[in-house]
Amino acid sequence: TRTLFDAVAARLPSRLKLASQLTSAYADAPVHSMTVSNVMGGMRGLPCILWEVSGTDKDGITYHGRTLSELQGLLPSWNGSSQVSPEAMLWYLYTASVPTRAELEAFSADLLRRSTLPAEVEEFCDRISSDISSIAQMIMCLSVLAPSSKFTAALAQGVPKMQLWRYALEDALDSTARVPMIAARIYINKYREGKHPDALLDPRVDLAENFTRLIGRVGDADFTELIRLYWGLHMDHGANVSAHTMRLSGSAWSDPYLTLASGLISGTGILHAGAIIQALRYNQGMLSALGTEPSDEAIEEYVTKTIANGCVVPGYGHALLRTADPRLEPIVHFLNCRPPQEDNEGAAMLRLIRLTTAIVPDVLRKHIPRMKSHAPNVDSLSGCLMYAQGLDVDFILLVMACSRGMGFMAQYVWDRALGLPIERPLSITMDQLMAQL
Ligand code: MLT
Repeated sequence: TRTLFDAVAARLPSRLKLASQLTSAYADAPVHSMTVSNVMGGMRGLPCILWEVSGTDKDGITYHGRTLSELQGLLPSWNGSSQVSPEAMLWYLYTASVPTRAELEAFSADLLRRSTLPAEVEEFCDRISSDISSIAQMIMCLSVLAPSSKFTAALAQGVPKMQLWRYALEDALDSTARVPMIAARIYINKYREGKHPDALLDPRVDLAENFTRLIGRVGDADFTELIRLYWGLHMDHGANVSAHTMRLSGSAWSDPYLTLASGLISGTGILHAGAIIQALRYNQGMLSALGTEPSDEAIEEYVTKTIANGCVVPGYGHALLRTADPRLEPIVHFLNCRPPQEDNEGAAMLRLIRLTTAIVPDVLRKHIPRMKSHAPNVDSLSGCLMYAQGLDVDFILLVMACSRGMGFMAQYVWDRALGLPIERPLSITMDQLMAQL
């Protein structure tokens, strides 16, 4: 059976050929004209970061040329699951090809073999104070994992530059398997007083089901399905803030574990992945102000007040997308297929987000017409859905980080495989800019 290493190696010559064509034959061809507003506006919309695993623009995202909905029809699922297997998505991101069942099973087994944590990482993790946020705990644990980097060892041995990707891929797969295990450990330490469940890793099931087992929810099929959905959807979205941070750190050949930590840090920002938490807190606030069954009018009034107070309604619009986020549709589908069984806080949240995603875009359109997009983004629902599944607000960001880290590692490996240079744009002061106009 072809391994992921074989599949990446097989794709590499054609990608190297294309890269060399671009850097030689087309070296001086213009791509885009840069304006002052690009410089002043955080490089928004400037196509200047080379990305191998996906392409983003204002209409959405394509992964090796295919849309999310095309991939949902193409990529395999695990038996009994209606979600694309996150491992299959990952294989696809690395290789631009759909894994056969045998490749997928061997890949999944390889990941599970890699998932054992060094004892010093477990001990370190168990000693961290539970006052520290889940994501910060993960960042600390990644630093403790860094000495096990095979990439760093290869650098120390003087492995030639164009061979480094193999060591990067070793670390990438190790970290893909280990990060969810650390996340589960953090969860048990923080939310279950360190009482680890008896359930051990089961080599017969996938990473998501093992994660479910390790956080003490053995047999919770709906939760496992949510994790599969969530991990599959959030792996890659081009040069978003966390991925771009990792891209930049990685371009200096920082080891994959510390590179991941750098991305997790920028992911905490509320203008980026932290928005998941903002959206959830906003909806929690709405439920406590309006009760558990608010009317459409009450929601409209609440949102209008937020706008009138000059505050942001989290979960709407996007830095880049100008149409509905393609990742939203599978989440809505998941939501619609699972009407709440009990009448509790989670059910109230699910009822609310069904209403808000329908009502809020029009309220925003009416009061803030200049917003470039009024559509709900993926953050408007994803955190709420996990909260309704019983996850604590603080931990939700870490579930997102597991996925983003897995996806970015494919980019890290390809950056090394293509021998891409360090990122070093020119910085310019406003006075220098003025002088050029
Ligand atoms: C993401 O997936 O990271 C968000 O949609 C933010 C972005 O793409 O900029």
